[in-house]
Amino acid sequence: MTIENRARRDFLKHGVMAALGAAAIPLLEPVSGWTQTPGEEAERQAAAQGAGGALVRLDFDRRIGTIDKKIYGSFIEQLGRCVYGGVYDPGSPLSDAEGYRKDVMQAVRELGVTVLRWPGGNFASGYIWKNGIGPKNERPRLWDTAWQEVEPNQFGTDEFLRYCEKLNVEPYLTVNMGTGTMQDAADWVEYCNATTDTKWANERRKNGHAAPYGVKYWGLGNEVYGSWQIGHMDAKDYAANAENFAELMRGVDPTIKLVAVCDTSVKWDVTVLERLGRVADYVSLHHYGGSLDTAKEMQDAYFFQRQLEALEGLVTAVMTNVRKKEPVLIAADEWNIWFRSWYKRGDRHELEEIYNLRDALWTASALNIFHRMCRSIGMANEAQLVNVIAPMMTNKDGLVLQTTYFPFQLYAKHSGDVALDAYTRSESFPGMPETPYMDISATTDAANSKLTLALVNRHPTAEIPVEIEIAGFQPRESGVSYEVNGPSLDATNTFASPHNVGVRQSTFSGAARKFRHSCPAHSLRVLVLEKA
Ligand code: AHR
Repeated sequence: MTIENRARRDFLKHGVMAALGAAAIPLLEPVSGWTQTPGEEAERQAAAQGAGGALVRLDFDRRIGTIDKKIYGSFIEQLGRCVYGGVYDPGSPLSDAEGYRKDVMQAVRELGVTVLRWPGGNFASGYIWKNGIGPKNERPRLWDTAWQEVEPNQFGTDEFLRYCEKLNVEPYLTVNMGTGTMQDAADWVEYCNATTDTKWANERRKNGHAAPYGVKYWGLGNEVYGSWQIGHMDAKDYAANAENFAELMRGVDPTIKLVAVCDTSVKWDVTVLERLGRVADYVSLHHYGGSLDTAKEMQDAYFFQRQLEALEGLVTAVMTNVRKKEPVLIAADEWNIWFRSWYKRGDRHELEEIYNLRDALWTASALNIFHRMCRSIGMANEAQLVNVIAPMMTNKDGLVLQTTYFPFQLYAKHSGDVALDAYTRSESFPGMPETPYMDISATTDAANSKLTLALVNRHPTAEIPVEIEIAGFQPRESGVSYEVNGPSLDATNTFASPHNVGVRQSTFSGAARKFRHSCPAHSLRVLVLEKA
């Protein structure tokens, strides 16, 4: 989170959100209510003249690079109802024998999450992991000063890593650089990864996990630059401190991959990179955006891209200076829309944003950025997974999929491993030449056997015809289209009305090396084309 965002967050923290109803819903019901009246159709046609057409030119020889599947990552934090009541709800009839919500697990599997970050976030900077292991009835109930709530320590390291095993996702742990010591961090590595006959590895065995967990990804603190962070410090102190943490942690397991905290401040990033660049494999960047205004929200996606490009440039500059050959990649390990629901409602700290279709199109645009910048982005974690600024919401009876669930799911499921360098031409939002109506990414697989086009029409009212030209690939004449859309940009899915936005699957014909495809107003279309 940037400092500017933080100020905005403080200002808005008493914002309200729509209340949730109580009904349980089945997953992935067909979407209803998109039908437009003839009058609306005429309006769209008229507006379309203002939007113009768009052009996409692809050449299968022009490949950007390989997409790391870790960009389809997520994040859970001990905060509000994310872990307790979302992930973990012992005693609920919807939970399994170990206490994990089965409906949430099913939705996470279908979402296609690849890597999961935990325990925070801000929570990480005060979290003593040793309090969260061993017999549950002996674990202390503590006050979490980051989010001002009780932490019962019932969900700890073993529960998190078991969750990752059940979901078949890669765990990513963030160490406490606020109240924690470097010895605590090294002990945590030992607990998770060591095979030695030593105290913390033996504790793990005693707690029922004989084999090491083999946690590969470790974050060196969270948002250490921010005044809101427990134990925040300046860049110089952070870099020196994190270097010591890294050395001790690698002294236990030299194979771990480390993520250093970066920001969107040149001064912070350069200072950190100059010292930590040699030891870090990744540098983190957090971005939260959002607006009630469509043009501004889409422009925010552009700023997100610029922040990533700025960090990419700084990494290149500093790493070239220090002659480091191994890549230092960006981990955008918190990203989302977050501006409506803030810390407190009554005595709870919920951050329970209700997302609309506009936010889903922003999410698709963010995923397009990760594809287009695949050479420098090695991981991205949507913040967060359930209930707290999340693509799915639970209550005691069930679960609802928010609008932002669907783009993530489609990208994770249908994108190829290789990003293509797509030339795109489109009209832009008035006065915002940097923010085109159409935002796209194109991917293929290593064998060039399919093409996936993610076409985001962010125009509020106009259907946009897109001319698609492809060199080096002959598609089959018919393909599959997955469309995320809804009755309006403000449409949301709630327990009371869960199916306003969803995915409509259809086949389309007419695909060729040069063809035209029309994208409805405010839609994401993911087109999957097989090689002829
Ligand atoms: O995701 C919510 C919070 O946003 C995280 O705890 C923190 O890292 C960021 O400021």
